[in-house]
Amino acid sequence: MSLLIKNIQTLFQMEEGPGPHRRVLKGAAMAELPALNNAWVLCEEEKIAGFGTMESCPDRAERVMDARGKLVLPAWCDSHTHLVFAAAREGEFVDRIKGLSYEEIAARGGGILNSAQRLRDTPEGELLESAWLRLGEIMDSGTGAVEIKSGYGLDTDSELKMLRVAARLSEISPVSIRTTFLGAHALPRQYWNDRSKYIDLICNEMIPRVAAEGLAQYVDVFCDRGFFTVDETDRILETGGRYGLKPKIHANELDYSGGIQVGVKHNAVSVDHLECTGPDEIAALLGSETMPTLLPSTAFFLRLHYPPARAMIDAGLPVALASDYNPGSSPSGRMAFVLSLACIQMNMTPEEAVNAATLNGARAMELEQELGSICVGKTANLLITKPAPSLAYLPYAFGTDPVQSVILRGKLR
Ligand code: NIG
Ligand code: FE
Repeated sequence: MSLLIKNIQTLFQMEEGPGPHRRVLKGAAMAELPALNNAWVLCEEEKIAGFGTMESCPDRAERVMDARGKLVLPAWCDSHTHLVFAAAREGEFVDRIKGLSYEEIAARGGGILNSAQRLRDTPEGELLESAWLRLGEIMDSGTGAVEIKSGYGLDTDSELKMLRVAARLSEISPVSIRTTFLGAHALPRQYWNDRSKYIDLICNEMIPRVAAEGLAQYVDVFCDRGFFTVDETDRILETGGRYGLKPKIHANELDYSGGIQVGVKHNAVSVDHLECTGPDEIAALLGSETMPTLLPSTAFFLRLHYPPARAMIDAGLPVALASDYNPGSSPSGRMAFVLSLACIQMNMTPEEAVNAATLNGARAMELEQELGSICVGKTANLLITKPAPSLAYLPYAFGTDPVQSVILRGKLR
């Protein structure tokens, strides 16, 4: 099957070859977004087969789409979600409106523990059905690759159940899915007086089982005030490493927790959240290959202060953007809104935001050789916008849905 998109007003994020020079975009390079006016792209089977300006447009393909007045970009690469969950938590949303904080709700046994109770009681088939609907919703909004975490199970069987659902989604959908084991998401009530017993369970039982069943590529810990300490994180990441699970961790959302530094120490693929990032954290990241990943829809929803994206990029760091789609702190997986927040609240330029949500997002899932740019041989994951005057119009028109069509693995959705 060949699919030609022609008369594209502007095509963005082309790459001549997935060379190492563009695999991670950092510092000033984040502002550079390749653009080609009056362009075409050809997809053959699942791959991108060519692109260029209309003078060189191929004259035939099995299917032809006209993108006059529209923009074409790589589909979003959303490198941090908790897409598998049993139920929404809109009651806690109302509690927060009435004055309780996210941490107060968690300390009362709500929050993540509330989701864990619901998840344990929900059969695997039902979890799959609801996650499938959410996956469809984010595909329609332009997402072509996603990372999905466990962490609402908090016992061995339930954690494995969540990861099996994510694995099944990967088999039945065209989205590229990466999975992360997040047993250390919150401390279950029965361990509140014996923390080390739960860390033992994670290290001695959960990680070995997850690895033996090949259910995750990554290990995560919510390393923050009121959740897991640096020493506990260190032990879990060390154990994960021995079982071939690379770290991608939650760090510095609620406090200067040391999470960024312990992530860097273990050569984490990414450290995510980073609302509490200062000069020491930036210095630690600068000497590393770890991708700082920002989740501004969580800061928006929980009314946290936003991560200092501008200072990070100006210091020479790369930044990735992700949705954190989950029922407690970001009940939305719409990447277009994440890009708007990045521009409006964190002073990222539209070009930086697109780089952060495509190539750098792909890098944060170690998929940058396959996804995240328009490059011959890469997987044909593209989005076509509704008519738009320019790139800046996309984050500017916040809250609207800018995506008209989505092509995943060369097929129109
Ligand atoms: O990324 N910060 C930790 N975990 C999630 C929230 C999970 C929840 O509240 O259910 C997050 O924000
Ligand atoms: Fe998260």
